[in-house]
Formats: sequence, C-alpha cells, structure tokens
Amino acid sequence: MENLIEVKNVSKTFKVNKRANGIPGMVANLLVPKFEQKQAVKDISFSIKEGEMVGFVGPNGAGKSTTIKMLSGILYPDSGEIKVNGYVPYKQRKDYVGSIGVVFGQKSQLQWDLPVIDSFELLKAIYRVPEKVYQRNLERFTDMLNMGGFINQPVRQLSLGQRMRADIAAALLHSPRIVFFDEPTIGVDVVGKEKIREFIRELNRKDKVTMLFTTHDMQDIEKTCNRLIIIDKGSKVYDGTLFGIREKYGTTRQLDVEFKDNCEIEPIKNVEIKQIDELDGRKKRFIFENKDVQINELMNELLAKYNVRDLNISEPEIESIIRKIYSGKDVVL
Ligand SMILES: Nc1ncnc2c1ncn2[C@@H]1O[C@H](COP(=O)(O)OP(=O)(O)O)[C@@H](O)[C@H]1O
Ligand SMILES: [Mg+2]
Repeated sequence: MENLIEVKNVSKTFKVNKRANGIPGMVANLLVPKFEQKQAVKDISFSIKEGEMVGFVGPNGAGKSTTIKMLSGILYPDSGEIKVNGYVPYKQRKDYVGSIGVVFGQKSQLQWDLPVIDSFELLKAIYRVPEKVYQRNLERFTDMLNMGGFINQPVRQLSLGQRMRADIAAALLHSPRIVFFDEPTIGVDVVGKEKIREFIRELNRKDKVTMLFTTHDMQDIEKTCNRLIIIDKGSKVYDGTLFGIREKYGTTRQLDVEFKDNCEIEPIKNVEIKQIDELDGRKKRFIFENKDVQINELMNELLAKYNVRDLNISEPEIESIIRKIYSGKDVVL
C-alpha cells in the first residue's frame, strides 16, 4: 500500500525572545534583543499508509503540536521533507487543504457568536463542498456525534464537549482523506470522550480515513489506534504497536557504573547482560532484562571484582512514560 504521509528527517527550531525581568530588562530588550533557539522537533522520520490510524504521544512540550502544524502546512520545517497525499504541505497549502482535516482541541475554527450550523455553511462555501456531499455528511455527523440538540445554538453557549464535537464535524464536512487531530478530547468528560472515540473509529473503519491522533489520554490511543509513535524532547523514541512497547521497554533495566580505572568486564556468572554501553569517563551502562537478572547479584559481582566508584540503577527515561501508559488511567504524561 502506498504511503500517504511521508516525513523525512524533519527538524524545527523556534527563535524565542529571552527577556530579563522588569523595566531594565524591557529596556535592554528593546536595545539589544536576546534570542534563544528552542529546537522543538529533531530529525523526525515516519511514514503512514492509507487507512492507518496512528496515535502520536509524548510528554508536554515534546513537539507533537509542532509536528501536526508542519504536517498541516501551518508551519514550515527548517530541514527535512514532508509529503502528504502527494503535496508538500507548506508549499502547496491552497491545493492541499482540501484533502485534509485538522482539529486543534485547544483552538476552535467555529465562529464564536454564530450558531454552529452557520459555521458549517461557511466552511461548506470555503471548501466548495458539493451540496449533496455536505448534506450527507451533515446528517451523518449530526447523528453520530449527537449534535441535534445544539446545532442551532451559538458556539459560546456550548459545553466544551459539545464544542469539540462540532469542531470535529466542521473539520470533516469536506470529506478529507486524512485527518490530523491535536488533542481532540482535551477537557471533555468521559461520556463525551467515548462518543468522540467511537466516531473516530467508525470514520477510520467505514470511510478509511487516515488519521494521526495526538493526545495525552492513553485511553484514547488504546481504544482507537493500533500503532503508536512516541516522541520525547523533539525526537522519535518509539514507532510500533502498543503491544510492542511492553516487549521493548516494559522489562528493561539499566545499571550505570563508574569505575575507578579502565577495565574490561568479563562475563558474569549466572547474569545475562544484554548489552554494555561505554559512557563518558570510566562509566559503563549495563542493560538487562529485569526478569532474567537479579540486580543484587549483578551489583555484588561488580563490587567484588572491580574497583567501583559509583553505582546507579536507572530506568530508560521512556519507561516512565510507558508505565503511565499502562496504568491505563486518564494520565497526563
Ligand atoms: N511558536 C512557538 N514559539 C516558540 N517556541 C515554541 C512555539 N511553539 C512551540 N514552541 C516550543 O516548542 C516545544 C514543543 O512544543 P509543542 O510542539 O507545542 O509540544 P507538545 O504539543 O508536544 O506539547 C516546546 O518547548 C514549546 O515551548
Ligand atoms: Mg500540543
């Protein structure tokens, strides 16, 4: 199957004005503005096939929204390549937008003071949605998202859950092939979330809409996506199935050891080390399976045979995220 979304070695850095506090800071900033580089996305690559539904998760500030913005053509990447449905999003935005839908949970594209239906009509005109398609979608979405009760109300009177449902419908009225969701369930109550997930699932199953789905609610992912991409500090750290995460990270532990002098580590009796990494200085990192290795045994062996200055048991950083994923609750990563 063809790749509908192709992201290759994409990076994005923001220039942030760094201002000292108070009036002196303000004055100094006017005279000589100080800028700081903030790399939001670092060399990310992935591809998504037609009909896939992919979860995109990571801690706050990981670079998820920045990636979604680049994919939807709002931001351009500093380097790397993006191709979606044959278009380069930020270069061919006008032609491109017809094939995508974007939902930003934090920012509505509906008119605040107008009834929901008026915003829909407006979007119909903007996207030149044929009357037939529009009516069919409107009817279907109204039903699926339970919008009948509020579709004639101004957006400002809606609850967050209602507003979100209306926003999701708005993004889909032109029947896009690809939809980017950025936190589509944020702040929505449990029942509302379930409705949204159901809708997303059905859209993917019946209409074969391809989706990339950012959320910090792991239940969203577990209930909708098979595949998961995790990013952390701007870099991709995992791409695979939800199940695969447990295999990859679930049981791995590491022990960092600083030795007093350079030494070669001989195989250790009864202890199966998967990997030994050389770190800076005279440090080595021992990576092993928790289920195979008694950490005490390993430490005792090392302390008995070598000149050890310091020991430190740590988990791969990603593991704390994964652990939260498997707590299964409504967690903030
Ligand atoms: N317009 C911007 N200007 C400066 N820094 C930004 C801007 N947008 C995002 N950032 C920074 O880039 C990083 C990634 O942000 P973002 O993509 O919003 O993360 P996420 O959506 O995963 O929470 C953060 O450190 C954020 O502060
Ligand atoms: Mg975000």
